Amino acid sequence: MTSLKHYLQFKDFSREEYDYLFARAKWIKDKFKRYEPYHPLFDRTLVMIFEKASTRTRLSFEAGMQQLGGSAIYLNTRDSQLGRGEPVEDAGQVISRMSDIVMIRTFEQDIVERFAANSRVPVINGLTNEYHPCQILADIFTFIEHRGSIQGKTVAWIGDSNNMCNTWLQAAEVLDFNVHVSTPPGYEVEPERAGLYGTANFEQFADPMDACRGADLVTTDVWTSMGFEAENEERMKAFADWCVDAEMMSVAHKDAVFMHCLPAHRGEEVTAEVIDGPQSVVWDEAENRLHAQKALMEYLVLGRIEN
Ligand code: CP
Ligand code: NVA
Repeated sequence: MTSLKHYLQFKDFSREEYDYLFARAKWIKDKFKRYEPYHPLFDRTLVMIFEKASTRTRLSFEAGMQQLGGSAIYLNTRDSQLGRGEPVEDAGQVISRMSDIVMIRTFEQDIVERFAANSRVPVINGLTNEYHPCQILADIFTFIEHRGSIQGKTVAWIGDSNNMCNTWLQAAEVLDFNVHVSTPPGYEVEPERAGLYGTANFEQFADPMDACRGADLVTTDVWTSMGFEAENEERMKAFADWCVDAEMMSVAHKDAVFMHCLPAHRGEEVTAEVIDGPQSVVWDEAENRLHAQKALMEYLVLGRIEN
């Protein structure tokens, strides 16, 4: 029996666990590409709870669970009791008695924390206002595939200090790399909200060009995240100069890759030239959600597998 583990934020795992997971994701991906069935989670059930919209997260978890031999059940706020005020603690008790693993996409981090505290099975954060650990797991796996170890490298984060940015900052502390952040004034990183141990792994830059200089990876995200739609108009004005363009890519390392978790808004946070250009790895990044999360689910349900 493995001890109960959750994946609620990036710093829940150690560097050593990530080394295992990246190697495991590669093994699982290679097997999948050879069309070799692999069903370690036969007869297991994943419950996916969505309080916000999704394409990639739903698809990668649902397809991933099926490919591992299990099944996945989709619940959303609209047509479950979750939208009618059932306490999250009660939902955690009940849902975890009928399933083997749970993934939740919701608003405040506190909701996944409370659910997990009442769950008998592993809980995965599929995005909250504060964090998006599954995405950064896939992003770093993608970086490793393209460029090797991320240790000591520099990631330039351009735009909003949102759930993605916070998770990159946590990852930098766990895996020992640097993040150069450039946000418009008033949207700076809040280290405490980001859940950081310190500030040694990141630097803030007023000018996005300075953040991109010498970076090995340039990345951005939407100016308005889900749940913040009321601020959209104000954000469109504030973020206008934080669009990743060819000029920003030209001051990054010549081998720099561009990433975006998607969905993207061409002409807002990134130009079409960059996201559809030769340095962009966004389609590999999206695909790798599948492989990385298969490794994650296997690890959370079964523990380490030595092949
Ligand atoms: N990147 C990501 O999480 O995409 P979805 O919102 O489509 O799940
Ligand atoms: N920061 C975005 C990511 C979407 C995958 C959001 O929270 O809406």
